Amino acid sequence: MPVMVPSIDRHVFFWGGFSLLEDGFPLVFFFLSAFYYIMEQELQRLAAESSKALESLETVEQLEEFRIRYLGRKGQFSTIMRQLGSVAKEDRPRIGQLANSLKKDLEEAFEIKQAALRAVSAKNGDRPDLTLPGRRPQNGTLHPVTRVMNEACAIFESLGFSVAEGPDVETDYYNFEALNIPAHHPARDMHDTFYVSDSTLLRTHTSPMQARIMTSQQPPLRVIAPGKVYRCDSDITHTPMFHQLEGFLVDRAVSFADLKGVLSVFTEKMFGRKLALRFRPSYFPFTEPSAEVDIACVMCDGGGCRVCKKTGWLEILGAGMIDPEVFTMVGYDAEVYSGFAFGLGIERIAMLKYGISDIRMFYENDLRFLEQF
Ligand code: PHE
Repeated sequence: MPVMVPSIDRHVFFWGGFSLLEDGFPLVFFFLSAFYYIMEQELQRLAAESSKALESLETVEQLEEFRIRYLGRKGQFSTIMRQLGSVAKEDRPRIGQLANSLKKDLEEAFEIKQAALRAVSAKNGDRPDLTLPGRRPQNGTLHPVTRVMNEACAIFESLGFSVAEGPDVETDYYNFEALNIPAHHPARDMHDTFYVSDSTLLRTHTSPMQARIMTSQQPPLRVIAPGKVYRCDSDITHTPMFHQLEGFLVDRAVSFADLKGVLSVFTEKMFGRKLALRFRPSYFPFTEPSAEVDIACVMCDGGGCRVCKKTGWLEILGAGMIDPEVFTMVGYDAEVYSGFAFGLGIERIAMLKYGISDIRMFYENDLRFLEQF
C-alpha cells in the first residue's frame, strides 16, 4: 500500500520504509511505489506553483529570474526529471511523459507572458528614444609629437628642404662607420643601443640619412629626415625611443652663417617669436666644427627659471659643418663642396612649446593628457 509522503525528502522516505518493514510489507515494493507516487505529486505541485508564479510576473526583468528558477538547466523541472532514474522501470514512461508535457505547457505559457510583458514595456517607453541626439564617435587628435614633427617639416619645406625617410633598423655602416665613427671610437659610448645582429641595430640618430642620401645623390642638396631613433636611456627627459629631425644642406661655399640663418628662421616660426640663439663648441665625429645650439629660455625669455635651471638658455639641437672626411667617404670633392647639418629632438621642442615637464607623458597614452592637444 503506497504511503503518502509530503515531499521527496530522503529522511521522510527512509523513515516510512522502516516503519513499514516492521509491519511486514516488503521493503522493495514500498520503496519504488512510494517514489513514483511522490514524483507525480511533486510534478503536479510544481506545475501549480509555477503557473501561479508566472501569473504574478509584472516586469520584463522578472521573466529571466522565473525562467532560471523553473525552466533553466538547474531549474526545478530539470531537478525533478534528473531523479526519474529512481522510479520503477514500468512507471518511468508515464512519469516522464507527464513531466515533459507539464514543462511544455509551462514553456508555452511563459512565451505568451513574455510577449505580453515586452509589449507593455515598449509602450511605456523602454524602447529607444529616436529623438535623442546621437552619440558622437570619439574623434582622435594628432599626438603632440606628431604635431610638432609636422610643423617642423612644414617650416623646413618652406625653406626649400625636401623630406627623406630612412629605416629604423639600420646597418652599423650607416649609423657609425660612414659618419666617421669607426668601431671602438669612444663616441660610440654616447650611442649605446639595441643591436639586432652584429652589423644591424635600431638607429641611434637620424644622421645615417646624411650618408644614405649623399651616397645616392649629388649636390646641391637640401634635405630633412624626420623619424624615430632609439637609445638605452630612460628618465624624465629621456625615453628609449624618441624622434629626431635631421637637416643638412650641401652646396658650394656654405658657411656657418647659413646654418645660423636657417635655425633662426626655424625657432622663430616654431615658437612664434624671435628667440636669441647661442652656439656652444661641441664635438661630433661627422661635423667640424661642431656646436650645441641653445635658444633663449621660452619660459622666462632668458631671465632664468626652473626650466632653464637659472641659466636663461635651453639646449635644443646638435649641429656643425659636415666633416670633409664624410664627404670623402661618400665620394664628394671636399675641396669644392661644403655643408652644414643639424639634428633636433622633437620631444624636447614639444615639451618647451607646450610646457610639459616629463617626457614620459608622451608615451603613457593617458587620454586626459592627449585630449588637450
Ligand atoms: N646626430 C647627433 C645626435 O643625435 C646630432 C647631430 C646631427 C649633430 C647633425 C651634428 C649634426 O646627437
